[in-house]
Amino acid sequence: MLPDSRRTRVLWSVSLALNISLLLLPFIFKFDGKPHADWQQFLGRFHPLAVHLPIGLLVLLPILEVMGGSRHSLREAAEFVLGLCFACCLGAAALGYLLAFGSGDAGAGVTRHMWGGIALTFCVLFCVLARRAWLAGDAPWVYPGLLASVLVLLTWTADQGGALTHGSNYLTQYMPASIKRLTGLGAAGRAPSAGSFYVRHIDTVFETNCVACHGEGKVKGGLRLDSYDALMKGGKDGAVIVAGQPDKSLLVVRVTLPTDHKQFMPAEGKPPLRPEEINWLKAWIEQGASPTATQLAGVFIREEMPDLPLQPVGDYSAFMDDIHRMAEGQGAKLVSVSSKPADGLILNTVDVAASFGDTQLAQFNKYAPFIVEAELGRAAVTDASFATLSRFTHLRSLHLEGTAVTGDGLEKLASLSQLSYINLSSTRVTKAAAAQLDSLKSLRHVYLYNTPAQPESAGNLVQPVARNTP
Ligand code: HEC
Repeated sequence: MLPDSRRTRVLWSVSLALNISLLLLPFIFKFDGKPHADWQQFLGRFHPLAVHLPIGLLVLLPILEVMGGSRHSLREAAEFVLGLCFACCLGAAALGYLLAFGSGDAGAGVTRHMWGGIALTFCVLFCVLARRAWLAGDAPWVYPGLLASVLVLLTWTADQGGALTHGSNYLTQYMPASIKRLTGLGAAGRAPSAGSFYVRHIDTVFETNCVACHGEGKVKGGLRLDSYDALMKGGKDGAVIVAGQPDKSLLVVRVTLPTDHKQFMPAEGKPPLRPEEINWLKAWIEQGASPTATQLAGVFIREEMPDLPLQPVGDYSAFMDDIHRMAEGQGAKLVSVSSKPADGLILNTVDVAASFGDTQLAQFNKYAPFIVEAELGRAAVTDASFATLSRFTHLRSLHLEGTAVTGDGLEKLASLSQLSYINLSSTRVTKAAAAQLDSLKSLRHVYLYNTPAQPESAGNLVQPVARNTP
């Protein structure tokens, strides 16, 4: 049923060829998440502007067709508008492709939006064909049906695109609460309450580190972190928080990647979250990611204490060869906190935790004054290691979660004047041992989640976070 005149046949073949090339683009130039040429981004950024033309035309089309029932000239105009629609769709889709490819944007949201756009160009092209049959009275329902599907597809694709630029709750954010409830969109009764752990700690972390790119002004990755609803709604790849499962929560995954990983957050070389901030996030998610809970089991923060000024560690340049050798080896590693040597070293045992015991730790004695953070989570260390650790004079944070320590000898750490963070979660630390934490005057953050000492212990000094809550 191809059009007969030669001119339309040529037009039809060219259109089909262009449309098929569009379809092949994503297979030839795959989205690799890396930015490409500047000219691509330059042109691509016209996409959000350019899409409005085909959108407007596609909405106009059914109006012309309906009104054209009584006014013949409108029906003639509809044919022209449909052709123009197709050309504009092709152009807008090509620009959109340049935008995503050029800026290195990738992800499920981008992919969905792209396929929506490509499918739309095909549907519009088929409309051209179906319309001829419709006018000839051959298949009276195909064209109207196709046109209706085009409008549905258009709405969906536009919504996907909107989620990429404005965040996925852009349309519904200010929807009246009653309609939200009716449509099941609202998280009724889940509004964060003042004084909740979320408001006091989680939101503050995002405010300081993330909303510049994930807030009102910019919505990178389709994710906003400036409200509880937006956080739970997630980004272009869906939910970023899985309540109860910190390790499966994309947000935690992204902030705990190696800092030089291209997906590490905060992006663009911004300073990483502090260990205690990451632990708040993990503990909060693990215990249900509630917007109202004021206190997390086993998490104690002395809020009245100021952060201590950081004391520079000494010069460890004599050990640089050792440090490089360790970095290449299979065992525990010493990693620089930053490019400034005075910021000290992190002892990282994650890869060898199971075989890293008291003897192995003792071998790090000579680096003791330079280590500011000891990652011993799930390592094979015992209470015997407290003696070694007491020589880590610049130690600021100590991870002992999931180890065999019971806390016997904890008081040896009292000499560490910088120690502000200790994680003893999932250990057998007893109440009596936890009481010794009182003598560690610089401690601000204490984790005793899932220990015999958990409920209220931690001495008089370490108060549960909810203490000041009304
Ligand atoms: C300098 C800008 C910038 C800052 C600051 C930033 N991000 Fe991002 N973020 C991005 C960009 C760009 C993307 C999209 C590309 C990507 O997925 O890597 C993104 C994506 C994400 C995603 C993936 C969303 C999805 O659905 O794919 C998560 C999760 C995320 N960021 C979390 C954070 C957190 C948490 C912080 C603060 C600790 C943060 N970001 C700070 C720029 C930033």
